[in-house]
Amino acid sequence: YLNYHVPRTRREILEILLKGLHRLEYRGYDSAGVGIDGGNQKDLDSNIRSIQLIKQRGKVQALDEEINKQQDMDMDVEFDVHLGIAHTRWATHGAPSPVNSHPHRSDKNNEFIVIHNGIITNYKDLRKFLESKGYEFESETDTETIAKLVKYVYDNRENDITFATLVERVTQQLEGAFALVFKSVHYPDEAVGTRRGGPLLIGVRSDHQLSTDHIPILYRSSGKDKKSCSSLPRTDQDTCLFPVDQKSVEYYFASDASAVIEHTNRVIFLEDDDVAAVTEGRLSIHRIKRTAGDHPARAIQTLQMELQQIMKGNYSAFMQKEIFEQPESVFNTMRGRVNFADNTVTLGGLKDHIKEIQRCRRLILIACGTSYHAGVATRQVLEELTELPVMIELASDFLDRNTPVFRDDVCFFISQSGETADSLMALRYCKERGALTVGVTNTVGSSISRETDCGVHINAGPEIGVASTKAYTSQFVALIMFALLMCDDRISMQPRRREIIQGLRILPDLIKEVLSLDEEIQKLAVELYQQKSVLIMGRGYHYATCLEGALKIKEITYMHSEGILAGELKHGPLALVDNLMPVIMIIMRDHTYVKCQNALQQVVARQGRPIVICDQDDEETINSSSRTIKVPHCVDCLQGVLSVIPLQLLSFHLAVMRGFDVDCPRNLAKSVTVE
Ligand code: F6R
Repeated sequence: YLNYHVPRTRREILEILLKGLHRLEYRGYDSAGVGIDGGNQKDLDSNIRSIQLIKQRGKVQALDEEINKQQDMDMDVEFDVHLGIAHTRWATHGAPSPVNSHPHRSDKNNEFIVIHNGIITNYKDLRKFLESKGYEFESETDTETIAKLVKYVYDNRENDITFATLVERVTQQLEGAFALVFKSVHYPDEAVGTRRGGPLLIGVRSDHQLSTDHIPILYRSSGKDKKSCSSLPRTDQDTCLFPVDQKSVEYYFASDASAVIEHTNRVIFLEDDDVAAVTEGRLSIHRIKRTAGDHPARAIQTLQMELQQIMKGNYSAFMQKEIFEQPESVFNTMRGRVNFADNTVTLGGLKDHIKEIQRCRRLILIACGTSYHAGVATRQVLEELTELPVMIELASDFLDRNTPVFRDDVCFFISQSGETADSLMALRYCKERGALTVGVTNTVGSSISRETDCGVHINAGPEIGVASTKAYTSQFVALIMFALLMCDDRISMQPRRREIIQGLRILPDLIKEVLSLDEEIQKLAVELYQQKSVLIMGRGYHYATCLEGALKIKEITYMHSEGILAGELKHGPLALVDNLMPVIMIIMRDHTYVKCQNALQQVVARQGRPIVICDQDDEETINSSSRTIKVPHCVDCLQGVLSVIPLQLLSFHLAVMRGFDVDCPRNLAKSVTVE
């Protein structure tokens, strides 16, 4: 929403929208669309409003090209105030196509348009109802029902109704998860955004000092707007509009901060069921009624994120950049928290709850995908240092099973994005049962970080590549730091604690050493890239590495890959091994070493020629294997941070050689905000 002192041409407005979409593309990239004010200067002067929609299948680039083809659009027409909405889609209902892409519209005249992230679960009922009222649908999507519903409510209104109230009435009929932004010819220059279960923030840009850092909520119980402003400083007490003075501000609604960071680092994170409206350049946030625990204002927060962090720099892909960032990202996870001089760990986000956590009966780690693997990777050291039973759960399965959860459980939610719907649902499930909830996320202001009782921010910096890499190693280290904190007053644990903390101290340098194997791994990729399948075997601390390595290979190279627990080899998977099947084995000098050697012999005996990831000083393995990738040695429970990196690099090179877009693997999206 642009309302700045310098008028903007349509060309500039489209550039802003498209750039925002490019930055968000990692969240979904099968089609894209934009909705802006149409018409020429004469129409605008005489206030004849129209909305123009341009949509295209494929990546944002395809939309960009489509826009450039629009001959009849006057690109130089200037706007003092302008609102445009744009969307890049990850298909849930209906295949990628222009008609299924967003914005969706209420009717052929584009009276109302809407963009949506999430899923509307009752859309079939709504669609049936709206069809019975004569609405004709053009797409197969759930979102189109919202566009039609908003028109239905508008056409059937009894009195004048604000855009915010209209949207509020619409969302009362919706079930499922959503973040929505609306635009309408009936409310020119107004934008309304709302969310339930999907992330939505508002970037606020102003050249002036902002008059407040809080926006009070307008509660609308019993039909009238009830204000919550009185206790809050320096805002407009009568209307709760921001800003109080008429100074010009630009607003950017977005699903995440990367889309707005080049314009502003000041953002407001909306809560579920907030309805935010920008009217005549001023922002108001509405809720139906105040409930217990509600904060009556939304803070304008200052983000630390820098534009450079979300740019590729000299790397060919974000994933590659993020793999090479790991010495710094892991260091940043520990920065200011691990004191290597006196072997102490401080986690500010847990400080008020650590005593309660220490008294709990069980830890449950809940997550999806790579974040789940970080739980698998650290389970053993968590069990060792906390002496508590530790359960590791995939969020979807945890919910499917209605897993019993008790008040004296502590439940961890590990999530890079902090928005994964399955993990968020599991979090709410655990909260309802009275467990203490802890977030381990990489996204400040995300739903999981806000809804958990306490947490650890992993500080890995924005992760844009769809395949998670640096978030994994930082989650790993964050969980180890938690384990160390849990036993900081246990005398018997001190030697082990010191050993691990000193291991953490050198970890960034050891990661650098592993990264220097890149060329060697690229050569290995040349040998493997035409294969159909890769098996990855290991046990103990490295089972997680096998799972994570196989996931990386699957998701970006589309090769089949399986992570196999070496202890299970003889119970079935050994049947897959022959002289043709590519096998990678992880064998490190830890308590499972002898058993891993046995597995190696079993594979070799079946004519397998495994590539072994091993300690660089393990002569025995090096001499008995045809091919090894030698990584430096570190403390057993940290070794998984090092053993996963060759597999991250391998998957990257395989994908490049197979000709795939590493950052945008087919059918996937970075942040899975649907169940
Ligand atoms: C794989 C990957 C996914 C995510 C999973 C959970 O590379 O990135 O498996 O780990 O979708 O996402 P978060 O961590 O955001 O909850």
